[in-house]
Amino acid sequence: MVASQEARASRIGVDILERGGNAVDAAVAVGFALAVTLPRAGNLGGGGFMLVHLAALKKTIAIDYRETAPFDTPHDVFLDEGGRFVPERSQSTGLGVGVPGTVAGLAHAHAKYGSGRFSLSQLIAPAITLARDGFIVDDDLADSLPQALERLGRYPSTRAVFFRNETETKQRGDQLLQLDLAESLSQIAQQGPQAFYDGGVGSRVVAAVRAAGGRMTLEDLKSYRAIEREPLRGSFRGREVVAMPPPSSGGAHVIQLLNILEAYPLASLGHNSAQTIHLMAEAMKRAYADRAEFLGDPDFVVVPLRGLTSKAYAAQVRGELSSDRARPSADIRHGEPLAYESDQTTHYSIVDKDGNAVSNTYTLNFSYGLGLVAPGTGILLNNELDDFAAREGASNAYGMLGGEANAPASRKRPLSSMSPTILLRDGEVELVTGSPGGSRIITIVLQTILDVVEHGMNVAEAAASVRVHHQWQPDELRIERGLSLDTIRLLQAKGHSVRVAPTIGSVQSISRSGAWLMGASDPRQRGAATLGH
Ligand code: GLY
Repeated sequence: MVASQEARASRIGVDILERGGNAVDAAVAVGFALAVTLPRAGNLGGGGFMLVHLAALKKTIAIDYRETAPFDTPHDVFLDEGGRFVPERSQSTGLGVGVPGTVAGLAHAHAKYGSGRFSLSQLIAPAITLARDGFIVDDDLADSLPQALERLGRYPSTRAVFFRNETETKQRGDQLLQLDLAESLSQIAQQGPQAFYDGGVGSRVVAAVRAAGGRMTLEDLKSYRAIEREPLRGSFRGREVVAMPPPSSGGAHVIQLLNILEAYPLASLGHNSAQTIHLMAEAMKRAYADRAEFLGDPDFVVVPLRGLTSKAYAAQVRGELSSDRARPSADIRHGEPLAYESDQTTHYSIVDKDGNAVSNTYTLNFSYGLGLVAPGTGILLNNELDDFAAREGASNAYGMLGGEANAPASRKRPLSSMSPTILLRDGEVELVTGSPGGSRIITIVLQTILDVVEHGMNVAEAAASVRVHHQWQPDELRIERGLSLDTIRLLQAKGHSVRVAPTIGSVQSISRSGAWLMGASDPRQRGAATLGH
């Protein structure tokens, strides 16, 4: 079964499974396909994180293919002469483009953990066909292109792909042909990842970044490596929670939040009751305050992971939470308001017939990334380096604060919130999940786990249920529409500043019980959970 945010890609993954591929083979094919069919988040020019669970070996591997800052990245790269953060630099110029990791990450997963029944070229082939033969713009593409019109319209190379005329992006019913992308994919299929990192495609990527004001060099591309890391492990209600370590903050804080919340009888307090939401929000504030202080690329800073994910630390934090009153975030630490938000990342979950699983989240950062298609490649480039903390006290596009631990540096990876997660029960996969949602990913994944494990929902119910989010700063409890006014009033009476705001996330989950698989693609978006024969 494959649950992804785009139906053609899910079908491609299932086709690989039906032809004898394992979950990793399918994940690689889906990863390349989404770069064609969901170009706002699926990508070759971005990066992400993949968890691979190998049932026979009872082993889970974490693959970090996060983008990396170019060698020439000074500490103050996003500041002006007066030391002020200039968001334009990290969000809208080549300086924000990290060295892309996706091609290396997918190729690494295939080479080490694929079934051996498919070559990389065979797994890329469906994506090439879609890019070369084109397809009709519909669903997510039709919705998201007009929203990104300004960003995409800045670059002639991007307009050539995604615009129907001088002023309008492609619309529902238009055909999207991506011939340059088909050619780039073909070169990767024929020559392997070096076509991207040490070949014609890479040279064009570097030229595009530099023309947009960036400092990336071919040497940066050549030295890029996907990194295998030890997954983080926690426990919750008899399950083992296997999650992504830094440079994602996702795993650390999903585990920390579960540790804090496990002492409360949330099920009997009631799903989305005022008391349950209050406790979740108070725990979330603490986790996000810790995130800002401690998290960064573990190859550059020491992240106190053992402490953050320990039950003892969770008990201490719990001791400081009031079960009646919301603690003002300003009492915890000072921050700034949320400036920008949307769902641009994408997640997919895969489980094969043998119980192997892949949980993969990858992104270009903003929807369509920087908006720049590297001329001659068809490849959209990321603006991921905005995830660095440009300076102490300056928030990034998600309103996230950070400190020295996540400061820009040469060849460093910016901190992420992406949280691909796998739950094991008695060593076997029980739940594979993840979501886009920027800074909200951590709390979305937390609530999905709570919904399934604590509140007894199936993955479809969990995907559809109302979500809440608090990220410490800004001091607001964000709640999706659908929660009763009574509950909101009770939360306000406890001192929460509630904001009712649109949808949060696009969860793609698969649950497994013996031979039974159930998949759910978040109804907030237009994905598809597809089961093979
Ligand atoms: N670019 C958003 C994240 O990685 O958290």
